[in-house]
Amino acid sequence: MTRVQVAIVGAGQIASLHAKGYEEDERAEIRAVCDEREDVAIEHALKWKAQDYYLSYKDLLRDPAIHAVSILTPNYMHASCVMEALRAGKHVHVARPIALTLAEADQIIGEARRRNLVAEVAEPLFFHAPLREARGYLEGGEVGDPVGVRIKICVGAPEGGWSIRPESWLWRFDPQKSGGGPFLFDSTYGALVAASFMLGRLELIQAWIGRTEIYPGYYVDAPATMMWRHGRGCMGSLELTYSPEMYIKSETYPTETSLELTGTRGMLWVRLSPGQMSSRAPLEMYRDGRVFSFNELDGSWEKGFERSIRNFVSAILGESQPACSAELARRHLEMALAARDSSLAQRVQRIGGSQQS
Ligand SMILES: NC(=O)c1ccc[n+]([C@@H]2O[C@H](COP(=O)([O-])OP(=O)(O)OC[C@H]3O[C@@H](n4cnc5c(N)ncnc54)[C@H](O)[C@@H]3O)[C@@H](O)[C@H]2O)c1
Repeated sequence: MTRVQVAIVGAGQIASLHAKGYEEDERAEIRAVCDEREDVAIEHALKWKAQDYYLSYKDLLRDPAIHAVSILTPNYMHASCVMEALRAGKHVHVARPIALTLAEADQIIGEARRRNLVAEVAEPLFFHAPLREARGYLEGGEVGDPVGVRIKICVGAPEGGWSIRPESWLWRFDPQKSGGGPFLFDSTYGALVAASFMLGRLELIQAWIGRTEIYPGYYVDAPATMMWRHGRGCMGSLELTYSPEMYIKSETYPTETSLELTGTRGMLWVRLSPGQMSSRAPLEMYRDGRVFSFNELDGSWEKGFERSIRNFVSAILGESQPACSAELARRHLEMALAARDSSLAQRVQRIGGSQQS
């Protein structure tokens, strides 16, 4: 059978991690690259050995040789890019968030169903080995029944991570383009996804999201504190801090995120993020007076992207279901929007009260 022919749309900062997934999957091939910047499109088409490059997304979608697109454009473009791709008959893998409104997400869900196409959201945390392993221990009863989860996100000085083009930051500072703030629709979003992956749906959330000016006129949405209740009853909390003078060594983003889950019998501690701030194992479990350190687990954050791509290719070939379907991604979006609205309105926000298709 012919290999799945894929186009990468938006060859920005995160694209290399997605491209690696296709490069390592013998069932797929990067056929084309699309970016509105010609130098970027050509550079990456050469790098990923793609046959074609496009500056116009509409032109790309007219190419019958393309079976699927990976959409890695800024957040505010996701919904329209996904809808156009589905209408053109292409399968879609899109960076989170699926859209910036629930109405847009509903349209995507409907269109993908009508056309029987895969619409999957890249959710690398679903494939993060330490988190998956931790969920296995939790479900196996190793730490008893869950009673609480706590997530700590520490964002450090830019010098600690990879060198990021200023354009990659600029759209994130505009709430209309990012969805709320540079961190809320990025690290915080991931943290809420991780909490729901471990403990199921969130039903109530209260958030306090601060504002810190980092250059004149440019603000980040930090510090932030949130607390929530899961449908199954246990509580969660999150703290996000930005420390502009703290060097956090990282191959990618200078961010350290960890999740601590307490059960009736023990505890799990999971490293979620690319930062290399802690010497702890990527997963530790405390039980019956003993600490179990899972040092041999592959704690690489980047691997989650590759595995998400592999899952997408399998879903196109009908070999598995998308790990993060458009329906599930809508629920994730709902959590982030509820956190944003809770902070703006200074009230506890219910999650899941709105119409769902
Ligand atoms: N953990 C995660 O899941 C994770 C991590 C990082 C980024 N992301 C998401 O991935 C997406 C991309 O992030 P990034 O950091 O690579 O952004 P970026 O700004 O570095 O890259 C976006 C690219 O899209 C291109 N682009 C813009 N408009 C276009 C158009 N009309 N047609 C074609 N190309 C266009 C830009 O030129 C740029 O190269 C974002 O949605 C972000 O939230 C997710």
